[in-house]
Amino acid sequence: MSYYKVLGFEKEPFSTSPDPNYFYLSREHEQALTNTLIELRLRRGLTVILGDIGTGKTTLSRKLIQELKARHDVIFHIILDPTFEDEHIFLRSLARNFEISVDNSYGGALLDVRDALERFLFQKGVTENKAVVLIIDEAQKLSDRSLEVLRVLLNYETNEYKLLQLVLLGQAELNEKINHLPNFSDRISFKYMLNPFSLQETEEMINFRIRRAGYKSKMHLFLKDAIIEIHQATQGYPRRITMLCHKALKELVMRNKSVVNAGVIEDIIQNEMRDGWHRKDPLLLKNSY
Ligand SMILES: Nc1ncnc2c1ncn2[C@@H]1O[C@H](COP(=O)(O)OP(=O)(O)O)[C@@H](O)[C@H]1O
Ligand SMILES: [Mg+2]
Repeated sequence: MSYYKVLGFEKEPFSTSPDPNYFYLSREHEQALTNTLIELRLRRGLTVILGDIGTGKTTLSRKLIQELKARHDVIFHIILDPTFEDEHIFLRSLARNFEISVDNSYGGALLDVRDALERFLFQKGVTENKAVVLIIDEAQKLSDRSLEVLRVLLNYETNEYKLLQLVLLGQAELNEKINHLPNFSDRISFKYMLNPFSLQETEEMINFRIRRAGYKSKMHLFLKDAIIEIHQATQGYPRRITMLCHKALKELVMRNKSVVNAGVIEDIIQNEMRDGWHRKDPLLLKNSY
């Protein structure tokens, strides 16, 4: 029997996969999501979501997709890793993913792909009145050349709206990169920075996830002092919270106990420090930021 079933869960509560069904809408995540959806509805062009590793960008993008799937006036595609060797490969992959057929008037050169993309954007955006959305995760990996391709695509517009909606999610380097390209940064219509959770949000996120996973007991599974420890040790980073809670529940089963108190969390942290874990991964090391 899996550890989580022993504790009364139907599903694993603290898996680290970016499952939108386990997405707790913190104030910041909610602001980022709602505003991005508004930008897309108004077709204002460029949205940028920034955040450190493990602040929930990828999970947010999955949530966004879940919302977009429910709408018939949206065509979207997500790029998970935008490392492209050159602009030709990037443009071709865009054409392929939006299922655009490319004529060979210029012998299959870059111009052909650009033409085809432009025609597609006008067809969808103006004739069919749909929003074409391109979401790029790990956008800090975009090369300057790829950013230039995107800048050109963002130039296609009517008097009222842009024909391509771009949502970039990335780490702080993305901000630096964009700031060096004034032609690009001028086009940002909404920019948002995701910060780690407060103590209260940490508690709400933990409780949200355990309920989502089918925990029904009225008893607190994580005691308040444990949550304070978790918040301190993880500095409120959702990925670290998730990993630490996962370990805490496994520990609970091993000890044959039914609540997580501060002692359980402290023991996990101590063990990891003793095993030298923290040298490889500062996940649970206190005051290391
Ligand atoms: N708002 C949230 N609610 C619940 N869990 C979250 C939330 N944000 C992130 N997580 C958890 O943290 C993990 C890391 O998030 P992720 O989206 O991969 O971060 P990033 O892409 O910014 O590195 C996710 O797999 C998920 O388990
Ligand atoms: Mg990510």
